[in-house]
Amino acid sequence: MIERYEKIFMKLAAVFLFGAVAALVVSIAGGHASLPEPAGRIEPEQVRDTAPFDQPGVREATADEKDEFDYKVTMVAQAWQWDPPAVEVPQGKRVRFEVTTVDVIHGFYIPNTQANAMIIPGQITELDLTFDESGQHSLICHEYCGIQHHNMGGKINVTPAEK
Ligand code: CUA
Repeated sequence: MIERYEKIFMKLAAVFLFGAVAALVVSIAGGHASLPEPAGRIEPEQVRDTAPFDQPGVREATADEKDEFDYKVTMVAQAWQWDPPAVEVPQGKRVRFEVTTVDVIHGFYIPNTQANAMIIPGQITELDLTFDESGQHSLICHEYCGIQHHNMGGKINVTPAEK
C-alpha cells in the first residue's frame, strides 16, 4: 500500500518537474523572457575617470542615438548619494539612464514607474523610461548600502512638454 503511494508521488514529482521545465522553455522561447544583462563593464576604482561617468548629468541624444532614445542621463551611485542628486528631463521623451557605482551595490528605484534595478560595482546598468506626466519623482536606493542607506535619495524633475 505504502509502495503504491510512493509510486504515485514519484510520478507526480516527475510531472511537476517536467511542467516547470516546459514553462521555462515556453517563456524563454515564446515570451522572450530574459534576465537583464549588464550594458557594459567598468573598473569601479576608475569610474570617476572613465567617460561618460567623469561628467555625469543629462544630455540630448546625438543624431545617431535618436532612433533609440531622446535624452541620456548618466548617474553615479556612491554611498550615500546620487551624482547628480537631481536631474531634469522633459515629459514624453524617451530617456535612457546609464548608472554605475563607485563602491557597493545600490538600488535604483523610481516609485510608480518601471525603474527598478540593481547598481552593481564593475557594471553599467541601462534602463529606458518615458515619463508621461510632468512632476517630481523620487529616486530611491532600495538595496541596503550602509548606515545612511535610508537617506540615499535623488530627484527626477519632469518638465512639461513644450506646446
Ligand atoms: Cu545606496 Cu542603499
